[in-house]
Amino acid sequence: MIRKQITTAVKLLDTGKTVAFPTETVYGLGADISIPSAIDQVFKIKGRPTNHPLIVHFSRIAQLQYWAREIPPAAWKLAKHFWPGPLTLILKRSSHVPQNVTGGQDTVGLRIPNHPVALALLNTLGDNRALAAPSANRFGKISPTTAAHVYEELGTSVDMILDGGACEIGLESTIVSFDDQMACVLRPGGIPLTLLNTILNGQVTLATSISLKTRASGTLASHYAPSIPLETCLSESLLQRTLELKSHGLRIAVIKCSASDLPHVTDNKIAQFLMPREPSSYGRQLYATLRQFDNSNFDYILIETPPNKPDWLAIIDRLQRASHIK
Ligand code: TXA
Ligand code: MG
Repeated sequence: MIRKQITTAVKLLDTGKTVAFPTETVYGLGADISIPSAIDQVFKIKGRPTNHPLIVHFSRIAQLQYWAREIPPAAWKLAKHFWPGPLTLILKRSSHVPQNVTGGQDTVGLRIPNHPVALALLNTLGDNRALAAPSANRFGKISPTTAAHVYEELGTSVDMILDGGACEIGLESTIVSFDDQMACVLRPGGIPLTLLNTILNGQVTLATSISLKTRASGTLASHYAPSIPLETCLSESLLQRTLELKSHGLRIAVIKCSASDLPHVTDNKIAQFLMPREPSSYGRQLYATLRQFDNSNFDYILIETPPNKPDWLAIIDRLQRASHIK
C-alpha cells in the first residue's frame, strides 16, 4: 500500500508537484530542489518569504559531499553519529544546491530524516536528488505532527499528503552550524545539547539568542504560534495569573507540567491540562496539544514554565517563540 503511494509521490515530485511527508520530527512540505517552479510553490503554499532558507533532505550519508563543500571533521562526526536523525547541519553549499533553496545564502541546511516513509521516498528518488522540506505549516504557525494537521494547515494546496502516523519526536530538528570548525547550535531540537557535547568532547556552543533563562514573553518574533495568545508563567504565579485573566472574562486553557491542581479554580471557563513530566514525551505532545486548544473554545493559553534544565531547552525555546504577549 505505502509502496504504491511512494511511487505516486515520486511521479508527482518528478513533475514539480509538492508532497507532504512524515519525518521523525514534524511533517515536511516536500519539493524537488532542482525544479525552480516546485520551490516557488513551497514558498507560496507556506506564505513564507523567499529569503528564508529551506532544509534539504536526502537519504545516504555518502551523498553529503554532493550537496556540501569544505565539510569540517566535526560535521562528519555528527553526521555519522546522528543520521538518519533529527539533526540539520548548516554547511557551505555545493554548486548542486540552487540558490533559490538557500534564500540566496552560500550555506545549506542538510538532513537525513529518520522515518521509514521519508527514507523510502528519498531512496526511491535516488542519488543526486533531494527534497526541500520546510515544516508543512503556514508561515509562523505550529508545525504539524500528524497528516491531519497538514491537511488542516494546507488543505488541497499541497498535491499529496503521505500519512506516516504521529511524529515520534514532535519538535523540529536540532540545527548546528560551524564557525571556524566550532559547532554552534542555532536551533535546539530533537537532539539534546548534552548529547552533541558528548560526541564533540564539549566543543559545542549555543547561539547567543538562545538561553535557558526565562525571558519576558513577546521579546521574540512570534513563531510556532497558535492564533490565540499564549503566555508562559512560573509555577508559583500560575494561580494568581489564572485568576487575573479570569477576571477579564477570558476562557483559559492552563497547561501544566506539575501535578498539583490549581485550588479554587473549578470553573467552566478554565480547563486544566497536565503534560508529561519527561521532556521527550512532553515534546512529542506539545504541538498537538497547542493545536487542540487553539481549535477549541478558548481565548488564552497559559503554560506553566517547564523545568529550567538542559533537556528542556528545545521546549523552552518553542514556548518562548510561541508567546504572543506584546
Ligand atoms: O525537523 C525539521 O528540521 C523539519 C523537518 C520537516 O525536517 N523541517 C523544518 O524546516 O523545521 P523549516 O523550514 O520549518 O525550518 C528550517 C530552519 C529555518 O529556521 C531556517 O532559517 C533554518 O532552518 N535554515 C535552513 N537553512 C539554513 C541556512 N543555510 N543557514 C541558517 N539557517 C538555515
Ligand atoms: Mg518551520
